[in-house]
Parts: sequence; structure tokens; C-alpha cells
Amino acid sequence: MRLNKSFARRVGKSLSPLQQSLLKEALPQCLFDPLTLLSQNKYIAEIGIGMGDHFVMRAQEQPDALHIGFEPYLNGIANSLKLIKAQNITNIMLWPDDVDLVIDQIPNNLLSALYILFPDPWPKLHHHKRRIINETRVKVFASKLQADAMLYFASDIKHYFCYATDMIRSSGLFHEISISSSPYDNYIKTKYHIKAEAALGMPQFLCARKLEI
Ligand SMILES: C[S@@+](CC[C@H](N)C(=O)[O-])C[C@H]1O[C@@H](n2cnc3c(N)ncnc32)[C@H](O)[C@@H]1O
Repeated sequence: MRLNKSFARRVGKSLSPLQQSLLKEALPQCLFDPLTLLSQNKYIAEIGIGMGDHFVMRAQEQPDALHIGFEPYLNGIANSLKLIKAQNITNIMLWPDDVDLVIDQIPNNLLSALYILFPDPWPKLHHHKRRIINETRVKVFASKLQADAMLYFASDIKHYFCYATDMIRSSGLFHEISISSSPYDNYIKTKYHIKAEAALGMPQFLCARKLEI
């Protein structure tokens, strides 16, 4: 069920022949397939993987987990496929579209961690309804996490960070909520983190542990 359209575009610069061939040939081999879920012990998801830098690093760093990346921006999916191919990574699945279209197919209490890094802030008041973090989604995301699993959120947009923190706190579904300007262990900067720093923004990170309910 689509809750809102929280992303801006599916294609930016026109796709190069290499990108087109990656989407045609490599994507089907790692396309999100809910029927294969539960065959692995550990699942980690990232929503809005952008160019795939953080997502691919995580998959390399934690080879025992299956990493699921959601991203409607096809240039980002093509770039992720390029990284995945170059590094011969096999423990991933990609969904090249809106997470809302498939999230219901992820069993509840499955994920060990969920990352949402520098989501589109939709700064104008009349666009706030397009933000990926809202009351309903916090509940949906929490339902997909195991008890004790971690939710990671980052933003350099102060009012979005506060808004998301309030939503996560007031959901009553998380505890051990920590906020920091330094990221969690083994983090690598995403494209939007680097962009934020170049614009003298101050990224903040929230880590929250799902309560046992
Ligand atoms: C500002 S970018 C940040 C990308 C990356 N995380 C980074 O830090 O560089 C936000 C990304 O979230 C993606 N996104 C927004 N809504 C989404 C949704 N409903 N499902 C999956 N991805 C989404 C957008 O397409 C966009 O690429």
C-alpha cells in the first residue's frame, strides 16, 4: 500500500548504455524476492540507498547477513549494481522502486537492522506530508524489526531530524534512543552526507533499539 510519494524522481541524467545493461542483465539476478526470505538467519535493510555506497559497504562488512536495498532512483540502482559487480557481492537483494510497494511482503520481526540515511527532507510545510518518516511508517518499520534490532536514521536538516526523533520516541516502540553528531561504528559517508558537509550542514544520527512488545 503506498502511503505517500516520498521520492522525487526515478531517473535523473539519462541512463548510459552501461547503466541500462546493468539494469537489464544484473538486476534480475538480485531482484527482491519475498519468497526467498526466511532462508537466511540475518536480514538488514536500507531504504533510499541512493548511489549504494553505504549499502554495498554494509553488505561487504557483514557477509553473514542478506542486505535488502530499496531505491526508486534507477541511476542509483545502476550505480549500486556496478559496485556490487565490481566487488563480487552476492548477499544482497534490490528493489528498484518505492519501498511501500513491497514492505508488506517482508515478514514481521525479520530485520536485524534498518537504515534510513539522509532521506529527502521535503522542507516546505505543504510538502511535509511527503516525508518518508511519518507516524504510520514508524509503526510499519518497527513491525518489520526484531525485538532488540536497531533503527538508524540520519539527517542534516535540523527540523526534519527533530520531527523524526519525536515520531520515533512518541511511537513508544523503541528504547535506548541515542542522538549523536558522530555516526555509528563502521559508517562510511553517503553521497548526501558529503553534500551536507560541503554545504556546512551538520549531520545528526539517531540509533534506536526496538522494544520487545
Ligand atoms: C536524499 S537521497 C539520500 C540517498 C542516500 N541515502 C544518501 O545518503 O546519499 C534520499 C533517497 O531516498 C529515496 N527514497 C525516497 N522515498 C523512497 C521510498 N518510498 N522507497 C525507497 N526509497 C525512497 C530517494 O529516491 C532518494 O534516492
